[in-house]
Amino acid sequence: MTVFLSSESPLVSREERESLNNHKGRVLWFTGLSGAGKSSLARNFDRALFERGIRSFILDGDNIRAGLNQGLGFSDEDRRENIRRVAEVAKLMVDAGLVVIVALISPKQEYRDQAKRIIGEKDFSEIFVDCDLKTCQDRDPKGFYKKAARDEIKNYTGLASEYESPLSPDLAINTSTTNEEDSLKMLLNFYIT
Ligand code: ADX
Repeated sequence: MTVFLSSESPLVSREERESLNNHKGRVLWFTGLSGAGKSSLARNFDRALFERGIRSFILDGDNIRAGLNQGLGFSDEDRRENIRRVAEVAKLMVDAGLVVIVALISPKQEYRDQAKRIIGEKDFSEIFVDCDLKTCQDRDPKGFYKKAARDEIKNYTGLASEYESPLSPDLAINTSTTNEEDSLKMLLNFYIT
C-alpha cells in the first residue's frame, strides 16, 4: 500500500466526510417532557436512517448523564451545562459528517437557543415531541412521576420544574394523538425535505 503524506492539506474537511457518507451532517434536537416519547422516536428514527445507509447516532439524556455528564443534576444551572455539553459534542459529530439525534428534555427555550447557536442555525432542527403532562404521567415508564409526586425526586420537569414548549419548532409531533408509525413517517418526511 502506498502512503502519501501531504504537507499542504492534511486536514480532512467536513465536506469531504459528507461526500464520503453521501449525506450532510446535521442535528435533529428532540425536546419534550419525560415520557413524551423522545427516546422511542429517536430509536425508531435512528434505525430507519441506518437502514437507508445514513450514518446517524443518538445522544440521549439518560445515557449521557450516566457517563459524560455524570455528576450533573437537575438545577437550572446543571441542566444548562448538560445541554451545552451535549450541543458541543453534537457539533463535533456534525463536523464528522453524522446525523445526530439528540433526545433531551431541554426544558427552556433559552437552553435550546444556546444549543442552536453552538451547533449553528443551518445544521440545527428543533423537534417538539409534544405530549400533555397527564398522558406522560399515565405512561410513567420509569416510575419517576410517581416518585416525584411522593417528593422522592426533586425538581421533576412538568411538576416542580417548568417545561417551556417551543415557540416555533421546526417540527412538532403530538405523541398522544399520533402513533409510532405515523410519528416516524413525519420525521422521515421532515428529514428528506
Ligand atoms: S434536561 O432537563 O437536562 O434536558 P435530560 O433529558 O438530560 O434532562 O434528563 C432527563 C431524564 O433524567 C429523565 O428522562 C429522567 O429519567 C431523569 N430524571 C431524574 N431526575 C429528573 C428531574 N428532576 N427532572 C427531569 N428528569 C429527571
